[in-house]
Amino acid sequence: MSTQAPQIPVKHMLCFLLTVFVCSFVFAYQYIENSNYCLSTSYIMPYPESTAKVQSSLNPRFDTSISRSPIYTNLSHEHYNKSDDAVTSKMNNRIEKSNSFWKAAEFRGCCLPNTIIIGAKKAGTRALINFLKIHPEVAIAPNEVHFFDREENYSRGLKWYAKKIESQDAKVLIEKSPYYFIDYNTPERVQAYNSSIKLILLARNPVKRVLSDQTQLFHNSGGTTPTLEEKLFTYDNTTVDKTAKVLQPSLYVKYLTHWLQWFPKSQIHIVDGDKLVRENPFYEMKPLEKFLQLSSFFNLDKFQFSSTKGFFCPVLSNNDLKCLGSTKGTKHLRFYNSTIYKLTEFFQPYNEQFYTLVGKDFGWT
Ligand code: A3P
Repeated sequence: MSTQAPQIPVKHMLCFLLTVFVCSFVFAYQYIENSNYCLSTSYIMPYPESTAKVQSSLNPRFDTSISRSPIYTNLSHEHYNKSDDAVTSKMNNRIEKSNSFWKAAEFRGCCLPNTIIIGAKKAGTRALINFLKIHPEVAIAPNEVHFFDREENYSRGLKWYAKKIESQDAKVLIEKSPYYFIDYNTPERVQAYNSSIKLILLARNPVKRVLSDQTQLFHNSGGTTPTLEEKLFTYDNTTVDKTAKVLQPSLYVKYLTHWLQWFPKSQIHIVDGDKLVRENPFYEMKPLEKFLQLSSFFNLDKFQFSSTKGFFCPVLSNNDLKCLGSTKGTKHLRFYNSTIYKLTEFFQPYNEQFYTLVGKDFGWT
């Protein structure tokens, strides 16, 4: 007796083939779309983890493991310094792979910042912006953006971020938000956003920075902010509380170490905030110009000392000086010498570690 294979009805066969065809079409369409996506932020979730997941599911070229893995975790400063080249080259390979998101954004001619001044607060960040602004290849977000450090802004996505900077044709698009430096989540988020971004950190004598900060807090609060001593000292009135908020941005080594878990040293340029005031800013602006790969523009004549303001100011193309307003460079409050002395002592070991980390002695005493 011969057995006959069961016959598949033709209409079932057709139905099956149609389903395969539709599925292949949808898959191919999604692949092509997402290879070129840019600011269609409906796709892009605000958080690095979710962004990475979405991107990896939509775009096979995006490697989720990269944006979330700190490069230098658990490496001592010494180790970091020694293996700088090896780690940087390894990281460059990873960056190449992980940057499809950013390249896609560039491809569509978007206007997202490619440079960030991450801090530190009261170290001269506004003055630096004022100096950079005169360079013809630079565009700067007019206000502090606080995209990566404020949940309400970050959740608005990249479309919102892109609107904060106006010029689309400048070579270097900069935003500054000094709170980024001490915000725990920001480095990871910035890395997920653009792992080859250039970062600028201004470091100034940490004690002077605290005094400047406290002076500003005093004025902004109408004199109601607690005294510096109330903020700094623990109950015995002698030991500095290292968790005091007002001194955090001056702990340069602590926060820079955290940033270095996400970015190589070569991507973070440090500007000496004291030198920016003491000497013609040209001496700090020229290396910065090189770091940002800008055409040569800055020279000594682009900055002039204003005796009324007491600071150097940039010279505009019509030869006018563009000094900062009265809120910058205000006279400090009077502080106890004993407080200044204790602060100086407190910062000393942190400063030494910072010098070792960056390979430069800033001479803060
Ligand atoms: P002081 O309050 O100690 O004077 P930021 O812009 O980050 O808030 O920093 C403010 C500090 O920038 C001021 O600190 C001021 O000294 C310093 N600064 C540096 N260069 C300056 C310049 N050319 N004009 C005005 N302020 C400048």
